Amino acid sequence: MTKIQVQTGGKLYVAGEYAVLEPGQSAIIKNIPIYMTAEVEPAPHIQLFSDMFNYSVGMQSDSNYALIQESIAVLADYMGKSLEELPPFSLSITGKMERDGIKFGIGSSGSVTVLVLKALAAFYELPLSADSLFKLASYTLIKRGDNGSMGDIACIAYDDLVFFTAFDRSRVRGWIEDKDLQTVLEKNWGYKIEVIKSGLPCDFLVGWTRQPSISKDMINLVKSSIDEIFLRATQASVLAIKSALEIGDKETIKIELEKVSDLLVGLNPAIYNETLLDLKAASQGLDVIAKSSGSGGGDCGIALSFDEDDSKILKKRWCQAGIDILYEEKW
Ligand code: PMV
Ligand code: MG
Repeated sequence: MTKIQVQTGGKLYVAGEYAVLEPGQSAIIKNIPIYMTAEVEPAPHIQLFSDMFNYSVGMQSDSNYALIQESIAVLADYMGKSLEELPPFSLSITGKMERDGIKFGIGSSGSVTVLVLKALAAFYELPLSADSLFKLASYTLIKRGDNGSMGDIACIAYDDLVFFTAFDRSRVRGWIEDKDLQTVLEKNWGYKIEVIKSGLPCDFLVGWTRQPSISKDMINLVKSSIDEIFLRATQASVLAIKSALEIGDKETIKIELEKVSDLLVGLNPAIYNETLLDLKAASQGLDVIAKSSGSGGGDCGIALSFDEDDSKILKKRWCQAGIDILYEEKW
């Protein structure tokens, strides 16, 4: 066994955030190619290092490393082995998704879970499809009590722009409690992941507020306001956005992204904090649609710009509002 290296990226919600917490609801999520890297090589005993913490541990309990350790335990279980039976390794994780100690908010905890599973599978020469990776990472996170939809995991496991329809996590949590891993994995969870091929020429822009927001807290704050009207309206728009992306229907995209953005404004005022309101307002008078992404309250917002000069104006306005251009891509 030689040294292996694998990477996983980040993600940002385009549409369907909050609604996708409900089973059967869909979201569109974009992969962000800002990568974390894992290196695994044979070692006398298990040694784990992440540049997030700057110290190494083994498998003894450590709250910072708990998610990494759980991912390792799940992979061993998947291989039908105990950790002692498997050749030991050293695992080093670098590329924290942050700047000046402030996180980007592009899904680092989801990404690290997928990264560890992918890295150890490669090290033990175990082929893992994107779908198996999705199920294993979701299993790990649900087991740990994560309250997210797993849409982030779908996007990161497929490393692409995806359309994700949510499964019933409480049902899967029940299976995890009283069935073994193989049995849980063999079951039909009822989700759908589809890669979207966008046929819409535009600039995809990511603005970073530099204000960290914790999704788990935002979900707890907002979830009681999610009602049937919000769910129905969001689902209709997400479906419209998906087909409009595929056929390159710019007007529909603009109208429907504006609608999902307005629905988020109405859901809870904490989603659009002042900087995200500025991020959105910066699109005024331009051939651009901008919105908050994910749970909001800080982190990032996105924009689709249909005119190169307008992209420049938008970026200038963002800079003036203290918003960093985290990433841009031509579609
Ligand atoms: O803020 P983010 O990028 O972690 O997105 C959260 C999206 C929610 O729908 C609010 C929660 C979830 O896990 O789906
Ligand atoms: Mg966030």
